[in-house]
Amino acid sequence: MSEVVHTPRVFSGIQPSGGLTLGNYLGAIKRFVEMQENGIETVYCMVDLHAITVWQDPAALRRQTRELAAGYIAAGLDPHKSILFNQSQVAEHAQLGWIFNCVARMGWMNRMTQFKDKAGKDREKVSVGLFSYPTLMAADILLYHATHVPVGEDQKQHIELTRDIAAKFNHDYGVDFFPMTEPVIEGAGTRVMSLRDGSKKMSKSDPSDASRINMTDDADAIAKKIRKAKSDADALPSEAAGLKDRPEARNLVNIYAGLADMSVEQVLADVGGRQFSEFKPMLAEMAVSKLSPISSEMARLMQAPDEIDAVLRAGADRARAIAAPILEKTYEIVGMVR
Ligand code: AMP
Ligand code: TRP
Repeated sequence: MSEVVHTPRVFSGIQPSGGLTLGNYLGAIKRFVEMQENGIETVYCMVDLHAITVWQDPAALRRQTRELAAGYIAAGLDPHKSILFNQSQVAEHAQLGWIFNCVARMGWMNRMTQFKDKAGKDREKVSVGLFSYPTLMAADILLYHATHVPVGEDQKQHIELTRDIAAKFNHDYGVDFFPMTEPVIEGAGTRVMSLRDGSKKMSKSDPSDASRINMTDDADAIAKKIRKAKSDADALPSEAAGLKDRPEARNLVNIYAGLADMSVEQVLADVGGRQFSEFKPMLAEMAVSKLSPISSEMARLMQAPDEIDAVLRAGADRARAIAAPILEKTYEIVGMVR
């Protein structure tokens, strides 16, 4: 069996299931932009087929898909440099997803912690799609033979599953076709926590709006949420070890580091010894200065939905040009008569 060398290609996706949060920005989009600027081929998707694993109002889904596209572009993703599109316009995702449903094992799927978290006590009532969604995610990635996937920490297990699926497919069919994809999880923002509870991930689905910073929040809203964010009574430490067992303090320092493009150590070297009453206004100012240009550009783009749709259509054509031959080859390997 010859060792196939896969050229580097980046793929990632975000669900248009609500507004964008600071967690999406620091954990994902900011890194999407960095990778785009590194000269690697980058493919970024609004995964609308994933979003409907839980009920979405159709009008809201359309708006959220365009808003996510606006967020990508406003944050610096350039449709001439990166391929930007929504998943449902490239039918090959669902087609490869079916093949992978037949490769992945029930035992693997049963171990997915995100499903357990999302389904909770409702296991019998959630959609089959919510359970099988990691196979569709594997298809998203492998349909492009993507070698690197920038994501937040919560997605690490799904990338491991993607590798398991690629390895089993290659093994079962005696080929070296799908690459072993690497997750790219680095920097201070890989796990941004709720502003109300340092043990919970910041999420667009949290019922409390005060728990998150939305990319569409204005300067006043951002400042107010940071002022009210949970913290503790101690001064900030001068070294990272001092943040142990202080989840809220750690989260606020991490957010600052992520926004300022600094390491946690660098931030603490500057702010160690200060009280939250001093640090929070600094953080608010940093957040507003980094986020308000993005949110105002998003608002401007949202005034021109036709332009956004044209970007997504053109992106889908480019995506399909990569995906279709890979799906075709997969069908051939599997034994489908063409
Ligand atoms: P989602 O909003 O669940 O579709 O996630 C889209 C991307 O944002 C994924 O790469 C997630 O890992 C990342 N992400 C979402 N929430 C957070 C968070 N609180 N901290 C860091 N990354 C996050
Ligand atoms: N599952 C990811 C999330 O909920 C979104 C996603 C779907 C994704 N397909 C992907 C991320 C492919 C990276 C690569 O956040």
